Amino acid sequence: MLVIHDPSALPQDGCTFVPTMGALHSGHLELISAANINELPVVVSVFVNPTQFAPDEDFDAYPRTLDADVELARQAGTDVVFAPTVEDVYAEAMDDIPLPMVATEPKLEDATRPTHFQGVCNVVARLFQFTKPTHAFFGEKDYQQLKVIEAMVSKEERFEGIAICAVPTARGEDGVALSSRNAYLSDEERAQAQAVVKALPLGCENEMRAALLDAGLDVDYAVIRDAETLLAPVEGRSRRALIAARAGTTRLIDNGALP
Ligand code: PAF
Repeated sequence: MLVIHDPSALPQDGCTFVPTMGALHSGHLELISAANINELPVVVSVFVNPTQFAPDEDFDAYPRTLDADVELARQAGTDVVFAPTVEDVYAEAMDDIPLPMVATEPKLEDATRPTHFQGVCNVVARLFQFTKPTHAFFGEKDYQQLKVIEAMVSKEERFEGIAICAVPTARGEDGVALSSRNAYLSDEERAQAQAVVKALPLGCENEMRAALLDAGLDVDYAVIRDAETLLAPVEGRSRRALIAARAGTTRLIDNGALP
């Protein structure tokens, strides 16, 4: 397995690609294992992207564990870990990616983190340009991000030929979604986080919110939306329950399909 820092040293004949911000956990390892679909190399990027963090967010404190990430990625079947610097990623000027509606209209993550998806789209576009993937793998855990990337790729000609592959959320034994930020949870907060998992299938926004408040969580949103547009549900189309809530200083986000 190779560790490459310089974008120009990446393989240029296609790859399957897993973008990450590092601090790899079993959820990422499932993405890497899902990316082993053909003979092309599996490239995993490890890059904490400054442009998707607001000034008051945890960019400086975000865990950076490259040596451990390299070892975990190797064991999971990675061919190349791509760990560029901020200077390399942002060396070339590139216009902002026009944001699809699903990044700006649902008033979910876009409401509390208004600059977040612009940063995600801009970095994913650059990472795609460097790695030239045929397939890119994203977790359903960040469901709005997944829908934003799908919409971005389907709109922009330059991404033609990249298949976006969704991988179901990896969960701990207690059902709580695996996430680098959930590593910050105390035992008490972890117990509170289980209320999020239990609220998702309730099928009624009032009941979801009440269950979260009962558990002492601070609720950002607890909604049922159209599974594709993330706008109000439409009869006959798939629905998705989505929650963001705070346990202490940790913001939990999770989602689940509804019948
Ligand atoms: O989901 C993440 O870890 C990040 O948002 C991504 C897609 C790697 C872009 O920085």
